[in-house]
Amino acid sequence: MTPDTSHVARRTPHAIKLAPSILAADYARLGEQVAAAASAGVDYIHCDVMDGHFVPPITFGPLILEAVRRASRVPLDVHMMVERPEQYVEDVARAGGTVFTAHLEATRHIHRVVQMVKAAGMRAGVAVNPGTPVAALEAILPDADLVLVMSVNPGWGGQPFIEAALEKLREARALIDRLGLSTELEVDGGIAERTAARAVAAGADVLVAGSAIFNDRESIADAVVRLRRSIREVDAPTA
Ligand code: DX5
Ligand code: ZN
Repeated sequence: MTPDTSHVARRTPHAIKLAPSILAADYARLGEQVAAAASAGVDYIHCDVMDGHFVPPITFGPLILEAVRRASRVPLDVHMMVERPEQYVEDVARAGGTVFTAHLEATRHIHRVVQMVKAAGMRAGVAVNPGTPVAALEAILPDADLVLVMSVNPGWGGQPFIEAALEKLREARALIDRLGLSTELEVDGGIAERTAARAVAAGADVLVAGSAIFNDRESIADAVVRLRRSIREVDAPTA
């Protein structure tokens, strides 16, 4: 079946935001790598905060966010894979977070978290795991600045893209458009040359990419160019 790309025409490739995930970065050279991503013209630095409870791994918290903040002027897209995200709103705001994305599955009070995030001066994102339906987002959508559809189970980089995420992106895009909202639609997990354009065609406008941008095969700048080019190809299939 031909994917429905009718909505793509009004979004130029430049409107698609790229958010490199530093989960895949070299932590001994973090500042340098963030600066390289910034020079390559990315739109967000995606920071994966993991607490060892919501997901098994532990990554980093506000101390590192604050260091990443200082490494460039690019806004920080903070993906909170933590239980009870409400506990960390103030700390992340103080560290310089721009977007604070909490998982729907991680709190009983997503509405309150969203209000807290906004009151702290950040933009509020709401994420859903692969097993959570998009319909669960409907009530919170008008209050959210960003919706994150996970295309892998959260916790690790380098996993294969879960195809069912494409349908969820289409559903989320339809919901956002139906409600006339300007909510950003972000996809995270397994985004690389082969999947980026399909996610965009399904309605995503923010692409998170970890291993496709921070790897041993190419420079960060080359990886960014390659990913942007792969989006352009689907956006203008006849070119
Ligand atoms: C996974 C994280 C992602 C991760 C994506 O739980 O939320 O941001 O870095 O990594 P890739 O792009 O390698 O799938
Ligand atoms: Zn993430």
